[in-house]
Amino acid sequence: MSKAEQEVSVGALDEAQAAAEVARLTALIRRANDAYYREDAPEISDAQYDAAKRRLNLLEAVFPRLKRADSPTGQVGAAPREGFGRIRHAVRMLSLANAFDAEDVREFDRGIRSFLALAADAPLAYTAEPKIDGLSLTIRYENGVLIHAATRGDGEVGEDVTANARTIGDIPHRIAGADAPEILEVRGEVYMGHADFAALNAAQKARGDKPFANPRNAAAGSLRQLDPTVTATRPLRFFAYAWGEVSAPLAATQMEALERLAQMGFVINDLTRLCADVDCLLAHYARIERERATLGYDIDGVVYKVNDLALQARLGMRSTTPRWAIAHKFPAETAWTRLERIDIQVGRTGALSPVARLSPVTVGGVVVSNATLHNEDYIAGRDATGAPIREGRDIREGDWVQVYRAGDVIPKIRDVDLSRRPADSRPFEFPKQCPECGADAVREPGDSVRRCTGGLACPAQQVERLRHFVSRPAFDIEGLGAKQVEAFHRLGWVQSPADIFTLKARHGAELAGLDGWGEISAQKLFAAIDARRRIPLARLIFALGIRHVGEAAANLLARNFRSWEALLAVIDAAAPQAGEAWEALLAIDGIGTVMAASLVTAFHQQGERAAIDALVRELTEIIPAEPPARQSPVAGKTVVFTGKLERMTRAEAKARAEALGAKVAGSVSKKTDIVIAGPGAGSKAKKAAELGIEVLDEAAWLALVGS
Ligand code: IVH
Repeated sequence: MSKAEQEVSVGALDEAQAAAEVARLTALIRRANDAYYREDAPEISDAQYDAAKRRLNLLEAVFPRLKRADSPTGQVGAAPREGFGRIRHAVRMLSLANAFDAEDVREFDRGIRSFLALAADAPLAYTAEPKIDGLSLTIRYENGVLIHAATRGDGEVGEDVTANARTIGDIPHRIAGADAPEILEVRGEVYMGHADFAALNAAQKARGDKPFANPRNAAAGSLRQLDPTVTATRPLRFFAYAWGEVSAPLAATQMEALERLAQMGFVINDLTRLCADVDCLLAHYARIERERATLGYDIDGVVYKVNDLALQARLGMRSTTPRWAIAHKFPAETAWTRLERIDIQVGRTGALSPVARLSPVTVGGVVVSNATLHNEDYIAGRDATGAPIREGRDIREGDWVQVYRAGDVIPKIRDVDLSRRPADSRPFEFPKQCPECGADAVREPGDSVRRCTGGLACPAQQVERLRHFVSRPAFDIEGLGAKQVEAFHRLGWVQSPADIFTLKARHGAELAGLDGWGEISAQKLFAAIDARRRIPLARLIFALGIRHVGEAAANLLARNFRSWEALLAVIDAAAPQAGEAWEALLAIDGIGTVMAASLVTAFHQQGERAAIDALVRELTEIIPAEPPARQSPVAGKTVVFTGKLERMTRAEAKARAEALGAKVAGSVSKKTDIVIAGPGAGSKAKKAAELGIEVLDEAAWLALVGS
């Protein structure tokens, strides 16, 4: 918006001029919302956005007839997801681990052989197929009829996009013949072809709408339309490549299962191949990479999967990825551009992160204007060990730099062109004070990151923690996204998570009068906040934003301690970082000393603990975690393996026990329920006997867990 336009007072406009203004501002705000939700960089500043919204509000107040039913002033943010129902996946939707070169692929094969105790030359076949760059969808059929379709969401719960999925030609509404299992969930990728994408964008531009950045965003934006008649006009396609719940096995191998899906009417990618060894996988990768530009749709790698489904079942999964599959990614795309400026951002845990502000450049079809610079060593041309990277070349403001991005990852800088370095350039001086609060920023020995010591008093850390707190895997409060919580922080209304729950009492009346808010939206927000006073334990732990305690760790802690009180008791008793409680934390497989120390420290820093306690006082119920697979005879039990196992490797035994809901510990204590002792078991079996703990041999264990 130009200054001149802004200054024409609303009162001086006639209705026709006001109508034109309303149209212009509506389009501007919509575009800004789109940019915010679809791209990595918003196009206008927050201040410009707010000014536009304020002016539109005013216009609507002065010319009420011009207020559109769908005016952006009536919306909180623009997240369309609020309009979709949610579907809990019967079987979790996983993502894939990545391989970046041939050695990673060989390591993947070696890892599987080692897990299954297969000799290096034992036959082990894989499928190889393109990795489609779209968004994953699961479609449930019961008795051959499409019941619902959902996006991946967080892997456990996705968005109900059934009506939209029905408009996709490649997705059958009924499964013809091929006697489909009674329950069948078909999974695959929704995508848009290049030609269709170009046509859609041309139409968007002709209408004055913002074009999509790439086919994947176009596919995602189209599938997640609240109005399915809009989706129906979008040329979406679907490749099937996997399945979720099935009431009867589809086949004995991945390849045969895909063939069955094809018989049922699904589209299977015709570059899917069966390979007897890694060399074949790599040869097929090379072929797909050669043909990539001519396929007519975006792919970003090749997916390899163990062909034998019985082996897939034995391999199972890690927390979010299967052990039996990997995505071999194509090398990142790169471009050269000028680094205008280095900004320092302060994160949730106080880390100072340098960000390169770039002259916008297109990398792999997406306009990039920011890149991460990791930390001060990286800028100086050193890695974590002090060894030179980029042959020791440092990165300076004003430099020409080579930017790359691989998949979804934030753009990074690979190289610097010294021949184009300005004569007056100076090495970048990394700040020793927090740019947000002025507190000292220090580096702990062995840590590559400089951190602000301001803690909860640092406004940047406050905001980042609040953003984290309301994020999807954390409290996920409907209508309270990053944007809203930032705005409340700016107003001084919310500084810590507990403040969110007291917002109504303190500023309820004012909120309704705030720009972009009204009586109804304010009431809705408070209802959504109240609904979250009951929160599952794992979400609460994750939401605290403790360093090193991510989603997987939060889940582990929740499952192990079940209740908040139990967790707190252990953390409190573990304060000296020694003793029984400390050992109990470390005995959890997946919790190491760094994480345990971070947890214990966070709970014992005065300010932090006060903030946690204040939050918990606002909650009405912390929902205890349930151990997975409750029906299993070992769910919730703590087991210890010792000695040699003969029918499976230790890794497989452990993974299987965990999948059945057991905790696997490394040492025997009073808390141990079962010790599985193979030949050669020594002191652990002896200790178990002394403590009167049940000791099983491998066969008895397998009989107990049903294999
Ligand atoms: S298999 C349990 N196969 O890539 C394995 N995924 O980075 C489920 N994707 O979430 C995925 N093409 O959305 C598989 N041929 C393919 C794929 C594919 C694309 C996507 C999928 C997944 C993501 C992981």
